[in-house]
Amino acid sequence: MKRKIGVLGHVLMGAAAVLFVLTVAQATGYAKKPEPASVTMKGDKQGAVTFDHATHAAKDKLNVACKTCHHNLDKTPGKLACGECHKAEKGDAPSIKDAGHGVCLKCHKEKKGTTKAPTACKDCHKK
Ligand code: HEC
Ligand code: HEC
Ligand code: HEC
Ligand code: HEC
Repeated sequence: MKRKIGVLGHVLMGAAAVLFVLTVAQATGYAKKPEPASVTMKGDKQGAVTFDHATHAAKDKLNVACKTCHHNLDKTPGKLACGECHKAEKGDAPSIKDAGHGVCLKCHKEKKGTTKAPTACKDCHKK
């Protein structure tokens, strides 16, 4: 019996170690760069999109989870810029328009009426 608990103990310790490594790996996905206060996505014909990154991410403000936007960081640590994968034309990843609208505009439409989240083209895109 004593021996069995020993084995279980090791299994649990192993699981804890794996969890620890995963947590650290996830943290370093962001840690290489400081969190920006404001972000400008360069856009194209429609014009650049600037938003307050700190306000969106802060727990006491809009509290949008990092992963809502940086959706694949577990798989590709360090790749934060949407444009690394999302290009003008759809390829391995959907187009940058579908990426931006799929996260940003989608939520803003859900929050329409209850918040000031912009949904008009010109309120996000500035030429
Ligand atoms: C909530 C903010 C938001 C609103 C509102 C919005 N967009 Fe976008 N849009 C984005 C983001 C973010 C991107 C990706 C930015 C990038 O290309 O770097 C994007 C990309 C695009 C692109 C591809 C890049 C470019 O500049 O050509 C087009 C075209 C576009 N949007 C058209 C529109 C049109 C038309 C409307 C209004 C019907 C609109 N968008 C409203 C956020 C928004
Ligand atoms: C509303 C969407 C959104 C949320 C929420 C969000 N981010 Fe971002 N973040 C972005 C966008 C968009 C960029 C700019 C990427 C680019 O250049 O295309 C960015 C950029 C960054 C950068 C700088 C990357 C560079 O290349 O300089 C870091 C670091 C970062 N985010 C960390 C975080 C962390 C940590 C959280 C959660 C606390 C978070 N982000 C939440 C959308 C978001
Ligand atoms: C390392 C590559 C990579 C980065 C960086 C990346 N994405 Fe993606 N994204 C993908 C791939 C691949 C898919 C399609 C498969 C999937 O859903 O995971 C996708 C799918 C999406 C979708 C679903 C769109 C649709 O039409 O189905 C949205 C929305 C999205 N990404 C938004 C973003 C935003 C916003 C950013 C930046 C904050 C971002 N992505 C950064 C690779 C990436
Ligand atoms: C989960 C919901 C959610 C997501 C995702 C989200 N937003 Fe927002 N955003 C909001 C809300 C809510 C507000 C309005 C806050 C208020 O009422 O003052 C807002 C406000 C804004 C504003 C006006 C104030 C400012 O920050 O300059 C801009 C521009 C904006 N968002 C752009 C974006 C862009 C670009 C993305 C994607 C990279 C994005 N948002 C993703 C919820 C979201």
